[in-house]
Amino acid sequence: MAILGVESAIFGVDDIELCSKFWTDFGLTGVSRSAAQAVFEVASGSKVVVRRRDDASLPSAYADKPGIRETIWGVDTAEALDRLLADLGRDRPIHRDADGTAHFLADDGMPLGLRVWNKRAVVSQPDAVNAPGRIQRLNLHRKWRQRAIPKTINHVVFFARDYVASLEFFVDRLGFRYTDHSRGAGAFARADGTNEHHSIFFVSTALPMAPDEPGFMHIAFGLEDIDELMLGVNQMDMKGWKNSGLNTLGGLSRHRISSAIYYYFDNPNGGEAEYHADTDYLDDNWVPRVWDWKFGSLLWATYTPSFWRGANIEWDMKFDKDRSSLEPFRGIRQKGSMGPPPSEMIKLKA
Ligand SMILES: [Fe+2]
Repeated sequence: MAILGVESAIFGVDDIELCSKFWTDFGLTGVSRSAAQAVFEVASGSKVVVRRRDDASLPSAYADKPGIRETIWGVDTAEALDRLLADLGRDRPIHRDADGTAHFLADDGMPLGLRVWNKRAVVSQPDAVNAPGRIQRLNLHRKWRQRAIPKTINHVVFFARDYVASLEFFVDRLGFRYTDHSRGAGAFARADGTNEHHSIFFVSTALPMAPDEPGFMHIAFGLEDIDELMLGVNQMDMKGWKNSGLNTLGGLSRHRISSAIYYYFDNPNGGEAEYHADTDYLDDNWVPRVWDWKFGSLLWATYTPSFWRGANIEWDMKFDKDRSSLEPFRGIRQKGSMGPPPSEMIKLKA
């Protein structure tokens, strides 16, 4: 074990005041506030740091729009951090802060950091579920909450020009575990010291709905169960925070890949913020799979997205023990290509 998940997600934004209100309404706990930055945290100790987009302390990549500018991954011990840096230092510059935090760029140019992290244990007790003939709560009502309180940062998602190369940097150089592949659309990996289905997901810029440039897509926060999630959705809605993607993956929905219940909000900090519950939790016994991207996207959705309507979607999932499903998708692919045979792909990579 070495990397325990996202220690800090550092955002560059246009309006710190508005963006701080968003995170407060979302249920994060304020830690500190100055003219230059606002810091929030969740129960695990993961932090959201909000700075202005033109803050000179931020890396230059992804500066063209609001979003995560640097992801700091938490490492369990100083020895593990040294081991990771000894390898990374072979082929890239590493800058160390006075507190030991290391900053560097991934092969695709993504700004990353590593620091030792004393991750806090999180306590959850989702209510047992009743069903006909299967009584798990007798004369016992479900939990009443006053608001949703995110417990963890479960994952971050970025658009990438070559999602296979971006993923493999995390697998080969940071010890992440490849977990699943949405064929032609993107690939998932889990930090070795956490059990959530994925800690990072790279989405291809070749997707029709994706931007042309790499950059931040969304960040997901773990909640106890669907009731906490929907309470949070209702309260965010009443405060004016909306989901404008109702024809894509909007509304309360459940992914087939990862099994997670989710709801996205448009986020003034950039991209979307996701409430996330009942995901699959994995360990190293997990065997990765490759999915038709339409089949893998959804188990069900509140608003059926256009790509699910009228299509005869194949129940297409195979195991991918040796990562071989990724091979045909190496390189930068043309916009709109969604899994044609390799010979039909136009590779623009030099
Ligand atoms: Fe997500």
